[in-house]
Amino acid sequence: MDRREFFEKAGLWSLAGIVAGNALITQGCKAPAAVLTNSSVSDNKIRVLKADWPTDKDFIVVKHPTDEHPVFVHKEGQHYLALHLKCTHRGCTVEAKDNILACPCHGSRFDMNGNVTRGPAKKPLVSYPVTADGEYVYVQYM
Ligand code: FES
Repeated sequence: MDRREFFEKAGLWSLAGIVAGNALITQGCKAPAAVLTNSSVSDNKIRVLKADWPTDKDFIVVKHPTDEHPVFVHKEGQHYLALHLKCTHRGCTVEAKDNILACPCHGSRFDMNGNVTRGPAKKPLVSYPVTADGEYVYVQYM
């Protein structure tokens, strides 16, 4: 193999590596959320009918129509916490499975308050204010 042939082959293999790496990252970032319920959006608030809340779950996952990443809403007694399921490492969608929030891209994990329990992510998930009345739960989407 002469010098020119070597550089041509090395260039093709480098290009193939870049394409394969991008394909892996892209596929890993499109993981679906675990649970979706009926909800509506008004005044940038995601509104969830309490009657739609599954009786066997202490969390639901809802979506804002303009955001690819869903919002995790956790209920503890009469208190609610909403977390944006966008990983703070590189922006993949974090999956909610039972009481584990796990990023499928590089393995970060978060607790029910959005705090990092395993890296590589270093920052907690973004949280949103939640209010509730007798009939609905409202997530103030920002
Ligand atoms: S994007 Fe979530 S761990 Fe890297």
